[in-house]
Amino acid sequence: MKSITPVVAALMPNLGIGYKGKLPWRLSKEIINFKNITCKAADNKRNAVIMGRKTWESIPKKFKPLPDRLNIVLTRTITEEHTNTDDLIYLNDFNKISSVIDDSIDKVFLIGGSELYNHLFKSNVIDSIILTELHTENSVEIDTFLDWDLTDWVQKSHEDLLAFAGIDLEPEYNEKGYTYKYSLYQRQ
Ligand SMILES: NC(=O)c1ccc[n+]([C@@H]2O[C@H](COP(=O)([O-])OP(=O)(O)OC[C@H]3O[C@@H](n4cnc5c(N)ncnc54)[C@H](OP(=O)(O)O)[C@@H]3O)[C@@H](O)[C@H]2O)c1
Repeated sequence: MKSITPVVAALMPNLGIGYKGKLPWRLSKEIINFKNITCKAADNKRNAVIMGRKTWESIPKKFKPLPDRLNIVLTRTITEEHTNTDDLIYLNDFNKISSVIDDSIDKVFLIGGSELYNHLFKSNVIDSIILTELHTENSVEIDTFLDWDLTDWVQKSHEDLLAFAGIDLEPEYNEKGYTYKYSLYQRQ
């Protein structure tokens, strides 16, 4: 199985990621960076993005499947409504992912939500994490959190992050009262 890299934006220090099934914030530069990170693939290849059914449903219809990436949606109940295409595959079992990742796929990202992030964090398919660490004085309502303990992980340098992501990212962003930066974590 290829390694899978979670990409997630979380409010520090409590690692809050969602509210009522949606993102608690709308940060346009963060959306652009997310797209650039998850789309950047080797020549003649594309990346795959894996998500849970609830995260899939939180994406507005006009934006999905997320373009230029193979979208893999996990749901335990596959029905006739779930039609697979070249860009979208529904799977009812995480262990079937390797069967749909062929040589045309470069990187594999996990893009949510909390159930998958929290479950897979403990598995050895994850050895790197791209975390957007947000800080704000705004009052933000959050009901969904990562239960990650990153103490055994190493926060790599910004240069390591840029090399890993293969795109340009600024050391810090400021948008709508939020300050945020991207961090690459890897297992010790
Ligand atoms: N801040 C961020 O970067 C970020 C990113 C993504 C999402 N989010 C937020 O996270 C929240 C959604 O997270 P969530 O935990 O509620 O839902 P989720 O993880 O997106 O989806 C959960 C669903 O995925 C399916 N699933 C999970 N594990 C599975 C497995 N091993 N095999 C087969 N199917 C599996 C099940 O679907 P069925 O019920 O259909 O069986 C389950 O109900 C939202 O608020 C969203 O905005 C935040």
